[in-house]
Amino acid sequence: MADGCGKAKIGPSILNSDLSNLASECQRMVDSGADYLHLDVMDGQFVPNLTFGHPVVKCLRPKLQNVFFDMHMMVAAPEQWIEGMQAAGADQYTFHQEATDDPKTCIRKIKEAGMKAGIGIKPNTPVNVLDPFVDLVDMVLIMTVEPGFGGQKFMGDMMPKIQYLREHFGTIDIEVDGGVGPSTIQQCADAGANMIVSGSAVIGSDNPRETMNYMRNVVEEAIQKSQLER
Ligand code: DX5
Ligand code: ZN
Repeated sequence: MADGCGKAKIGPSILNSDLSNLASECQRMVDSGADYLHLDVMDGQFVPNLTFGHPVVKCLRPKLQNVFFDMHMMVAAPEQWIEGMQAAGADQYTFHQEATDDPKTCIRKIKEAGMKAGIGIKPNTPVNVLDPFVDLVDMVLIMTVEPGFGGQKFMGDMMPKIQYLREHFGTIDIEVDGGVGPSTIQQCADAGANMIVSGSAVIGSDNPRETMNYMRNVVEEAIQKSQLER
């Protein structure tokens, strides 16, 4: 099982930040109390947008030495970037179930490379496709927007997927990504998400520390409540 599983963690997504100042934007998030960084990799095939790949991660790593990098790999054939990302200094490799015919091999290769493994699904994918993989990974990711762009509207109808995972798989780390901010965090927390990706709401906040603290507290309270009820 993952280290510290079930803990409330906030991972800002820097997708909607000033990408010409990527390292300083990441540092700003870390200085504001980010628990990890969620780095969105897009290949123009799996999603209709392009961002960056392992060469950029390699340049970020020495500038952000002790920060946990969760790579959200919105790419086709995710196996192909495992080695590159590991060499660049990624900590976790989160790929999409829809992107490969063989998620088990992908998970095995990620682990053999010494990284943590995450598996995610898009909004139209039913949650039970994850059943065979949940026990093999460190984290599952439920998308609450169509992957590809920051700043989209949160899809509250994805919450039953999170509830299903929390009910069936206990303390597994469950990450939620897309449209999450102070106005939608309560739903995510109540459903059972504990790893919270937030892009535009944190990047655009006048006080990112306060925004992240608020969301972390909401999630921590929900975790405590669920533990009391158990
Ligand atoms: C969307 C990305 C998200 C996105 C989140 O495809 O995976 O990580 O940047 O940004 P917001 O919080 O603005 O939806
Ligand atoms: Zn993402």
